[in-house]
Amino acid sequence: MVNKKITSIDDLSAKDIQSIAEQAIKFKKSKKNYTRKVSKNIFNLFLEPSTRTTISFELAARKLGHNSININFEKSSLSKGESFNDTMDTLISMKPDALIIRDKNNFSPREIEKKNKIPVINAGDGTNEHPTQALLDYCVIKEIFKNKKIKIGICGDIKHSRVAHSNIKLLSKLGYQIHIIAPSYFLDKGGIEKINNKIIFHKSLNSVKNLDILMMLRVQKERIRKNAKNLMSSFKKNFCLQNKHLLNKPYLMHPGPVNRNIEISDDVLNNYPNSLILRQVEMGVYLRMACLKYILK
Ligand code: NCD
Repeated sequence: MVNKKITSIDDLSAKDIQSIAEQAIKFKKSKKNYTRKVSKNIFNLFLEPSTRTTISFELAARKLGHNSININFEKSSLSKGESFNDTMDTLISMKPDALIIRDKNNFSPREIEKKNKIPVINAGDGTNEHPTQALLDYCVIKEIFKNKKIKIGICGDIKHSRVAHSNIKLLSKLGYQIHIIAPSYFLDKGGIEKINNKIIFHKSLNSVKNLDILMMLRVQKERIRKNAKNLMSSFKKNFCLQNKHLLNKPYLMHPGPVNRNIEISDDVLNNYPNSLILRQVEMGVYLRMACLKYILK
């Protein structure tokens, strides 16, 4: 039998995405915690900082009645100089039923899945993808708009954002109209057009009107090689979200963590009534329950 995996949105068909989202929304409605006679062992290997994703995966496993075993860089032998491959071989020898991994290197979840043939979920790999974030964002969109084909804007550091890449793949697969709002230094237009050549690009928040949803992204300062400070301050000056950009009252999303007053002004973050940011966090738990159910089948 072939193992299920979520190493990229490419691993999922439109039908898979819909059934995972429907399951997540069901879990959210039922609020049930499960107990089981035989629980599975799920290893969470987080080699980059995380609050929402780690806790929601752990909570999701527990709510399903499974065991969640967490390891991060500081606690692992990687911090003693053990190589990544040796650490992986050690963990795999303990026979986890599934592995959740966040790593700074692009494609490492895919490589681990290929080599070890165990169910793997990518919890964020470098600048490449963060499929469960895109799935949870979609669940929130689906809860509000059902299957209506709305206009979605994605604004910020598209180039370095794994959240952007997974969202663009997912929303393209489902046929949404996507608007990208970004300065040229935060955009790899060719790469994005390869995913979807119907995307509409904007150079300013003022030039995009009538969005149903505006998704802001964190400037990935730790991944910018040159001039991070200058680019941050240029972005802040020209793209930091203010009330004047929100006149038609789109829903506002952000995967978190937010750089306050770089991507979103304090005033908007504290007071904007159509913000979905904490609803995204809440959905993260139910979506990760649905993802675990999908890969453990
Ligand atoms: C994102 C990540 O780590 O890629 N955070 C998250 O999982 N909610 C987004 C980010 O750090 O910008």
